[in-house]
Amino acid sequence: MVEKEYMQAIMIIRVPAHLNQTVTLNGWVYNSRRSGKIGFLLLRDGTGIIQCIIVKNDVGEGQFENFKNLTQESSVSVTGLIVENHRAPGGFELQTASLRVHQICEDYPITPKEHGTEFLMNRRHLWLRSKRQHAILKVRHEIIKATRDFFDSNDFTLVDTPILTPNVCEGTTTLFETEYFGQRVFLAQSGQLYGEANAFAFGRQYNFGPTFRAEKSKTRRHLLEFWMVEPEMAYCDLEEDMRWAEKMLEFIVTRVLQNRQDELEILERDTSMLEKVKAPFPRVSYSKCVDMLKAGGFDFEWGGDFGSPEETYISGQFDRPLIVHRFPSAIKAFYMKRDPMDENLAMGMDILAPEGYGEIIGGSEREADHDILLRRIHEDGLSLEDFQWYLDLRKFGSVPHSGFGMGIERTVTWICKLSHLREAIPFPRMYGRLKP
Ligand code: 4AD
Ligand code: MG
Repeated sequence: MVEKEYMQAIMIIRVPAHLNQTVTLNGWVYNSRRSGKIGFLLLRDGTGIIQCIIVKNDVGEGQFENFKNLTQESSVSVTGLIVENHRAPGGFELQTASLRVHQICEDYPITPKEHGTEFLMNRRHLWLRSKRQHAILKVRHEIIKATRDFFDSNDFTLVDTPILTPNVCEGTTTLFETEYFGQRVFLAQSGQLYGEANAFAFGRQYNFGPTFRAEKSKTRRHLLEFWMVEPEMAYCDLEEDMRWAEKMLEFIVTRVLQNRQDELEILERDTSMLEKVKAPFPRVSYSKCVDMLKAGGFDFEWGGDFGSPEETYISGQFDRPLIVHRFPSAIKAFYMKRDPMDENLAMGMDILAPEGYGEIIGGSEREADHDILLRRIHEDGLSLEDFQWYLDLRKFGSVPHSGFGMGIERTVTWICKLSHLREAIPFPRMYGRLKP
């Protein structure tokens, strides 16, 4: 064995290209069992799982003893010949020539038996290795990659927006406040306002980063720290905004279906509903939704905000994502343009995911007129000083523009059909949870 053979290892996902070659694989013990002088080691490296056969007569007494001591999650490097075996997981196996043990794992707390969610959440740093959690985060990666590919191939530029900001974007009730050398600042609730500046510099931009909201309640749909992708387009109205959003969602879901079949299978995701995610999506106005709710027996008055039960009911009437548009302006943010046909309506849209998942996207056409926006800022009691730069955008070449924000965790939760979004992010920050 060469010194540090593990520096030359390949990832398990690359094994098929190394048939009949001797390679080294690094990883962790997923499982091991023995039948007399033959050992079977299931090795996991994060890209795949492979069976390694260890024969006492091949590796010698000492190494076979080392194999016998292996426990779940012990770290090892295995060198040997890759051969085909149709009965082995993945269709290949490794005939071990030598085994190096890096560390014997003792008392790994997550065993194949059932554990409660609290127990697992407290051990999230280890739980991520489990098959289901691993599959979810692989799908998350695919969603993010697809989102970026979609925008990159449509002439968008990724332009980052700040996290520490004096500006309120989505209402004053969910702000995380911190101190900035004697000044009060907030963690960004959304990058949108800066995204608008970027759109006037780049035409089409998207920002993608962590966003923060101090949601003081425990729900299945709210995190305190979540990731949002926010495209912003100059020369774009609400209708065009909807078209971008539905094209993007179709693209993302198609990609996940193409590339993450194995993970969807592990998650036991029935994909027939995902196959239906094809643009155009149905569009229903807020007012029509209120009629639907009333007809469905809801005690709901025009002007109210939809909660989870309302969203679930409305989206349940459709078999694909639904675009709800033109909300009462009183319940929407100051920056949304008013409907020229009706001052009481804001040119906003939400996309509700099917199967009861509710809102995954929120967006709007922005108010492009300086004086109207100035009045709104006053009406909302926002600090004019902090919004001076934002008002500038309406003075120096203002144009109709629109954008939206898609919550990554909400999207992952829906596509993976999870019951709670805490599994859609590696380390969730929720009301009552900061660790690990
Ligand atoms: O609807 P929201 O509040 O819209 C905005 O922030 C706009 N400024 C976006 C824009 O137009 N650029 O949030 C957008 C999305 C929601 O649809 C939801 O998917 C997600 O962000 N989201 C959350 N996800 C997890 N936890 C929370 N507390 C969330 N709040 C919003
Ligand atoms: Mg919203």
